[in-house]
Amino acid sequence: MLFKQQALLRQKLFVLGSLAIGSLLYLVARVGSLDRLQPLCPIDGRFGPRSQDEIPLRALQFKRGLLHEFRKGNATKEQIRLHNLVQQLPKAIIIGVRKGGTRALLEMLNLHPAVVKASQEIHFFDNDENYAKGIEWYRKKMPFSYPHQITIEKSPAYFITEEVPERIYKMNSSIKLLIIVREPTTRAISDYTQVLEGKERKNKTYYKFEKLAIDPNTCEVNTKYKAVRTSIYTKHLERWLKYFPIEQFHIVDGDRLITEPLPELQLVEKFLNLPPRISQYNLYFNATRGFYCLRFNIVFNKCLAGSKGRIHPEVDTSVITKLRKFFHPFNQKFYQITGRTFNWP
Ligand code: A3P
Repeated sequence: MLFKQQALLRQKLFVLGSLAIGSLLYLVARVGSLDRLQPLCPIDGRFGPRSQDEIPLRALQFKRGLLHEFRKGNATKEQIRLHNLVQQLPKAIIIGVRKGGTRALLEMLNLHPAVVKASQEIHFFDNDENYAKGIEWYRKKMPFSYPHQITIEKSPAYFITEEVPERIYKMNSSIKLLIIVREPTTRAISDYTQVLEGKERKNKTYYKFEKLAIDPNTCEVNTKYKAVRTSIYTKHLERWLKYFPIEQFHIVDGDRLITEPLPELQLVEKFLNLPPRISQYNLYFNATRGFYCLRFNIVFNKCLAGSKGRIHPEVDTSVITKLRKFFHPFNQKFYQITGRTFNWP
């Protein structure tokens, strides 16, 4: 009898102990993630009045995907009123450069509790048909956010499209502009690889990179080839500088964003006057993927799609040398204008 009672007592103690340990673990995990994500975001100056410095905790739920529909721009009138949601024009735009790492940059910035990304490339300023629909159309394409959060969109075609600087200037002359660049020859090959993959998907054949990048008549670099032209960063930037002072641009090192993303993101946080909230916790290296992936919290993490980080075809070394020599003077000018120097050959 006594033995039976002791066994029963032991069983009860075991159940109670398990419950206590379980609750403790849950609390540690919860407090840990809340602490890290505590969304006190004094966004200064242009980004909102001081009285709105604090992002309510529900902003986190919103950001972490519970209100997923809102982020896509879908919400009922009741939800908008209840959560005090707005669709805001972007305070910062990633204007390029194509294949520089624009998607990675946007997704990583979106880790910040005060940043809300426009998931799709809107192509408002570079597409005449879209632009003709007016600024309200553009605003309605933005995700819902809290008034003191900032919206960021990315459309890499903006950087190289003639009309875009003036159009963006007309919308907001003090907007912040982000440009992410990679070593120009690597970027051109990445650009080629994307087009090649598109052709292959449609069972089409395509020229070799060497054939496109080098003019067969002159044996010089083919400046008519778009992938080459896009990599002449200084030429495009000079057009932008007719409208915006250099202080309104921030140059992100796309090669470093691949290998060491955190310091690059911290520079962007500073440029956007955001308090530092993105930490090493939010970024982990995924060996299978070969890239850094994103960790939002204890349960939610993600890597970029497989279309980011393609294997590049092998390119003749003499062509690479020729391209690097060609880009060299343009790069020097780019360093001079931007005040950011890269170790490009
Ligand atoms: P590659 O496919 O040449 O490797 P964009 O988003 O502007 O199209 O840029 C795509 C590039 O982003 C990829 O080029 C890849 O190298 C780079 N990139 C940077 N960080 C990445 C990340 N964390 N995951 C995947 N790709 C990343």
